[in-house]
Amino acid sequence: MSANTVTAARIHQHGGPEVIALEQIALPDPGPGEARVRNTAIALNFYDIYERTGLYPIDLPATLGCESAGVVEAVGPQAGDIRVGDRVAVLSGPGNYAEAMIAPVASLVPLPDGIDEKTAAAAMTKAMTVEFLLERCFKVRRGQTILFHAAAGGVGLLACQWARALGVTTIGTVSTREKASLAAEAGCDLPVVTGEEDFVAVVERETKGKGVPVVYDSIGKDTFEGSLKCLARRGTMVSFGQSSGEPEPFRPRLLARHGSIYITRPGMGDYTTTRQELLSSAGRVFAMLESGKLSVTIGQSFALADIAEAHRALEGRATTGSTIILP
Ligand SMILES: NC(=O)c1ccc[n+]([C@@H]2O[C@H](COP(=O)([O-])OP(=O)(O)OC[C@H]3O[C@@H](n4cnc5c(N)ncnc54)[C@H](OP(=O)(O)O)[C@@H]3O)[C@@H](O)[C@H]2O)c1
Repeated sequence: MSANTVTAARIHQHGGPEVIALEQIALPDPGPGEARVRNTAIALNFYDIYERTGLYPIDLPATLGCESAGVVEAVGPQAGDIRVGDRVAVLSGPGNYAEAMIAPVASLVPLPDGIDEKTAAAAMTKAMTVEFLLERCFKVRRGQTILFHAAAGGVGLLACQWARALGVTTIGTVSTREKASLAAEAGCDLPVVTGEEDFVAVVERETKGKGVPVVYDSIGKDTFEGSLKCLARRGTMVSFGQSSGEPEPFRPRLLARHGSIYITRPGMGDYTTTRQELLSSAGRVFAMLESGKLSVTIGQSFALADIAEAHRALEGRATTGSTIILP
């Protein structure tokens, strides 16, 4: 077998976790603007599930995955500042569920000495998402109260810490008391266990009927309607995911009925459009990690061979914090 043959977790059709299979694939040499990265830790993101199910279309067959961290072992021409031996985060896919991969150098972020690869795989995309959500998409201000759904998830635990660091009060939804404790430890001021309390009523009570200036909603179908009801007049609904499925279509005039609210559906790609923007967002995350204001919780890790089990756990709401896959 050639040195460039690697084990990868691939799909040939969309479907449930059972469509993922381990296969041997041959990697080409890196072309212009590309590098070959030996992955030492792979991220599990909900995005991977959308690609597996076909909600986000990809060309098939495909190696799944959208994020990893590892060491550059070869570069093609025009590799810019990226050198063999660099430790990097790979912030592009698909293709990351593999022992090694070819990646565009534009998507590689060199890791500072203090950030190990497991931390990078667990934190980078999720914390960069929090960075653009809280600091750019809807810029929160000290003293505000926000509603953040799935507060004990990968993105959620990082969001609670970041919001606390900015002096913001967070009401966060979770499905269990154990998750409520984790969210509270991360800085969530008021975790709401959704099976026990109605988050709309909690927001109404806590804000004395005024509502919150922003809701960050990644759950989608199950929470969308309720989230709109939580907004203050001229508040902003940031719908940034659909872990429970896509919300029903709705008419623009409903925005007026809810108090002339705004709605946005941001994707990280539109907040990291240039190399400079990507490095700036990653740099903010490194600074937050190095200052100790942010720490990543790796709630569970799986071997690459058990990737289907990892997908079942994430979809089944059985994970907490971030999940990493070890090749
Ligand atoms: N727009 C962007 O650029 C961007 C970037 C990164 C992530 N995201 C989105 O952010 C969300 C969080 O991503 P993540 O990778 O950190 O995942 P995660 O939050 O660790 O996992 C999803 C969580 O959503 C909650 N949930 C509620 N209803 C669910 C359902 N029916 N099925 C599954 N989960 C449900 C669960 O928490 P409870 O059990 O506590 O309810 C679950 O743990 C995802 O929707 C993802 O697509 C968006």
